[in-house]
Amino acid sequence: MRVGSARRKGVLGLVSARSISSAVVAICSNGVWTEVSGTGRRTGLRRASGLEKISDRLFNSDVERRPAGRAVVVTGASSGIGRTTVLRLAAAGYRVFAGVRRDQDAHRLVADVRGDVVPVRLDVTDADQVAAVAARMATEQDGAGVHGLVNNAGATLLGPWERVSLEEFRQLLEVNVVGQMAMIQALLPHLRRAGGRVVNIGSMAGRVAGPVFGPYAATKFALEGASDALRREVRGQGVHVVLVEPGAIATPIWGKASLRLDPTGPDDVYGDLLAGVRHGIVERSAQHGMSPDAVAAVVLRALTVSRPRTRYVVGRDARARVRLAGLLPDRFVDTTLVGVISRVGRAQRSGGTAR
Ligand SMILES: NC(=O)c1ccc[n+]([C@@H]2O[C@H](COP(=O)([O-])OP(=O)(O)OC[C@H]3O[C@@H](n4cnc5c(N)ncnc54)[C@H](OP(=O)(O)O)[C@@H]3O)[C@@H](O)[C@H]2O)c1
Repeated sequence: MRVGSARRKGVLGLVSARSISSAVVAICSNGVWTEVSGTGRRTGLRRASGLEKISDRLFNSDVERRPAGRAVVVTGASSGIGRTTVLRLAAAGYRVFAGVRRDQDAHRLVADVRGDVVPVRLDVTDADQVAAVAARMATEQDGAGVHGLVNNAGATLLGPWERVSLEEFRQLLEVNVVGQMAMIQALLPHLRRAGGRVVNIGSMAGRVAGPVFGPYAATKFALEGASDALRREVRGQGVHVVLVEPGAIATPIWGKASLRLDPTGPDDVYGDLLAGVRHGIVERSAQHGMSPDAVAAVVLRALTVSRPRTRYVVGRDARARVRLAGLLPDRFVDTTLVGVISRVGRAQRSGGTAR
């Protein structure tokens, strides 16, 4: 649908020009927003909108479930959101089984965390390690079950689809999708026993896919579908399934090697997009993204309120992107996203600064 025809149909009339332009900036800058509460602290918990308040009153509740000594499993606990979530959940009183792949990460966690943390060796693509964690829950929890599975482990792979290595893409699917589902399959009996929760760490890239983010977005869209189906399957079994969808968070993920952002040469047809994503999104997110504790706070909330929401979008950038993409025609979002990213890239390549 063209913008003109959208306007005629009154689609754009639903939002003011000012809110469109600020949200378009949010869509494009993808990661310079921070959540600041009234006290000046960065936090993922913001004041709910009117609609959310009504929805919370009808469907959710703020009555808290006490963490005291209850078992929670967090995957990908060596760094970023996972590590911060372990710190927060342990401080709140949970017994946290923290999945790491290296001894040094286990030692670091134990040294840094105040509270009850049990590091477990866990590569979510290793069926034996996944089974071992489930077996340990059966013996150590003495029939009490598991109160939460925070499916956080994740990796990235960025690059134009035309150039993505399919082998690398298969590996990414193994970590970001198959691995998450393996953990759910293994722990669901224990979660059912405790009336527990699955908290899947999705992404705003699982709601709106930017150019060059294709492989990563595909895995996060898959996680959305898997979570929706699972939530409906276990409805009535006392298990809640929650998706947490963060915007840009400043974590080591942005510095990882699987960002295929180098142009093939000065005439690369993807040159501007690649430079735009590198400078306008990846570098800005690494430096100015929200604190991972914003996500950890939301995870704690999803585990403790008596009836959690099905989705928590974390960060202004994510909320603006998700709302507007649902409201505006695809072609308008395409033009805006590609236009702004390419402009940033062009300016970088020519040594200037995009305005
Ligand atoms: N940062 C953001 O802007 C952002 C935004 C939205 C969503 N997310 C999501 O948040 C989650 C955490 O990412 P992060 O930003 O905190 O990045 P991070 O610091 O790179 O953390 C990723 C974690 O996943 C672990 N991991 C990777 N492959 C694994 C595997 N096969 N088995 C088990 N663990 C594995 C890593 O362990 P090793 O150290 O052993 O590699 C690490 O602990 C991911 O699912 C990511 O997609 C991040």
